[in-house]
Amino acid sequence: MTSPGAVDSAATRSSDDASGPWTVMRIIRWSGPWLQDRGVETGRLDAEHLLAHALGTTRLQLYLQYDRPLTPDELSAFRPLIRRRGAREPLQYIIGRQGFRELDLAVDRRVLIPRPETEELVQIVLDWAGDRAGLRAIDIGTGSGCIALSLLAEGPFERVVATDVSAGALEVARANADALVAGALVEASRLEFRTGPGFGPVRAGERFDVVVSNPPYVGAEEADGLEPEVREWEPAQALFADADGLSVLQSLVDGAAAAVASGGLFAVEVGLGQAETLRDRMEARSEFEGARVHRDLTGRPRFVSAHRTPYS
Ligand SMILES: C[S@@+](CC[C@H](N)C(=O)[O-])C[C@H]1O[C@@H](n2cnc3c(N)ncnc32)[C@H](O)[C@@H]1O
Repeated sequence: MTSPGAVDSAATRSSDDASGPWTVMRIIRWSGPWLQDRGVETGRLDAEHLLAHALGTTRLQLYLQYDRPLTPDELSAFRPLIRRRGAREPLQYIIGRQGFRELDLAVDRRVLIPRPETEELVQIVLDWAGDRAGLRAIDIGTGSGCIALSLLAEGPFERVVATDVSAGALEVARANADALVAGALVEASRLEFRTGPGFGPVRAGERFDVVVSNPPYVGAEEADGLEPEVREWEPAQALFADADGLSVLQSLVDGAAAAVASGGLFAVEVGLGQAETLRDRMEARSEFEGARVHRDLTGRPRFVSAHRTPYS
């Protein structure tokens, strides 16, 4: 198969050429298999997203103009995008956006691309919050800000602190917060960003009704089994943790007792095979009760939560 450069050279051919001009449909039909040959299973879909992005339109609109020839400028805009995807850069980094629950977030290589299962972690917190009022939460390892910002946008939170060890990630989270504040989806005064590892950014005596985290939990030995999009493009600091991926999770369990308010919720996302170990660790601590494993929508044990034993 030809390279993306062929798109430009072929675009200069006259329309009586055997293959004709590069119309919307023809370039999608060409690009989908080209991406699939490079291991992108969703090649056709991704080609549609990238073409829509290059043309500043939607996928639906593409199909309303499927036989329109593309201009040289449009082809020039599309070519680097498809080339990047062919190098297995995630679609979301190329487009720069990822949807998460009700939010449309900016993402780039400084942050993990928010995953659908993390939307379920947010739901666990929202279900617990119910119609309580004036809650305070801390989201440890906020990345794009997806958890913290969703809690503020959807839940009864008076205050949310979002932390990360990565200054770059916090820049992305702040930009997402600014956009949501501008759109009146989130109140700036309720949100605070802090830098540092684990519970380091928590002040002496400070307590939160909810401590939530989706920390790095992939073991180094699992790296080879990851898709190139993850292994080569997402931040290692967001993915990997020592001790078979458990080190950050374990330190969160050990430190949470001092940060969760009486009767409050501690909830974390975990990797496959880690849930029972974490639940047992929570159960072993007298500061927690009701430790339990939650399954995701596909039935996999992906979350663990516990309640802070009421202070006596
Ligand atoms: C798996 S990503 C999750 C990002 C975001 N919360 C989400 O759900 O998409 C983990 C995040 O935790 C940060 N991180 C890694 N180690 C940390 C630590 N010890 N303390 C706080 N944040 C940490 C990483 O920089 C990264 O942004």
